[in-house]
Amino acid sequence: MDTLLCCCLCLLALLVVSCSTAGASAAGSGRCVRQGKAAYAPSLSPLPQGGGSCGYGAMAAEINGGFLAAGGPRQHRGGLGCGRCFQMRCRDARLCSRRGVRVVLTDFHRSNRTDFLLGGPAFAGLAKPGMAHQLKGHLSVDYKRIPCDYKDKNLSILVEEGSKRPSSLVVKLLYQGGQTDILAVDVAPVGSSEWRFMTRVHGPVWSTDRAPAGPLQFRAVVTGGYDGKWVWAEQEVLPEDWRPGQVYDTGVRIADVARDDGACRGCASSSGSLEWR
Ligand SMILES: *[C@@H]1O[C@H](CO)[C@@H](O)[C@H](O)[C@H]1NC(C)=O
Ligand SMILES: *[C@@H]1O[C@H](CO)[C@@H](O)[C@H](O)[C@H]1NC(C)=O
Repeated sequence: MDTLLCCCLCLLALLVVSCSTAGASAAGSGRCVRQGKAAYAPSLSPLPQGGGSCGYGAMAAEINGGFLAAGGPRQHRGGLGCGRCFQMRCRDARLCSRRGVRVVLTDFHRSNRTDFLLGGPAFAGLAKPGMAHQLKGHLSVDYKRIPCDYKDKNLSILVEEGSKRPSSLVVKLLYQGGQTDILAVDVAPVGSSEWRFMTRVHGPVWSTDRAPAGPLQFRAVVTGGYDGKWVWAEQEVLPEDWRPGQVYDTGVRIADVARDDGACRGCASSSGSLEWR
């Protein structure tokens, strides 16, 4: 993890920022279990032309083994919710497996009848073996945000179609692990400290029309719980002749977990009393 450097950063006056080079430990705090509804949505099947409003496109299918969900307004948060991972299980003891499924948000919906719409594999995965065909309608579910775990993937950068060398650069961040939000992304030539900020277009997509000439390095402000820190990919991420449509590995893995979840107020239960694996 020596490419993962970190320094103190004050994101907001209110934030107390800690400084550590290791990811926060996976202590169970901040895993608020909520109750809500989930329903099946055929359009979330991991088809190549799908991909949802987070803009993952065909990649959505491989992001989480096809276990995809669309979140409602509460999960959307201006696109910040894209790529978040949830564990959920339905509550009918006769039909529902105790473990439930792990899903990643790749899309959003506006229905106020349900919190989540689930693609086929995820919806079926809620059931006990052989019971999937009996799951119908809007199911009552327990759910909690969990760290995303992309086992053999580093944080990666997809250069979006429409980018144009040298200065027009639109990137999508893929495989954002842990239980984190990315609040800022900067780009600079390798070996320089002339960082230029990128602007969030939506969800995981960031752009600038002032990109320096490559090769390029990146840094991002990542938060988990109350902490914010810079994560640096201080090496060549994009080569000089970067190309739209290509995915580039940052060599950095994000695995931080929320230490505390201020948003937990009003949830059904805090961790501990309704923990499951
Ligand atoms: C759902 O949303 C629609 C339109 O936004 C509204 O008219 C309706 O009352 C809402 N239903 C419930 C149950 O909140
Ligand atoms: C992730 O990055 C590290 C370097 O930081 C590299 O050694 C490793 O091969 C990368 N993993 C993958 C799957 O590309």
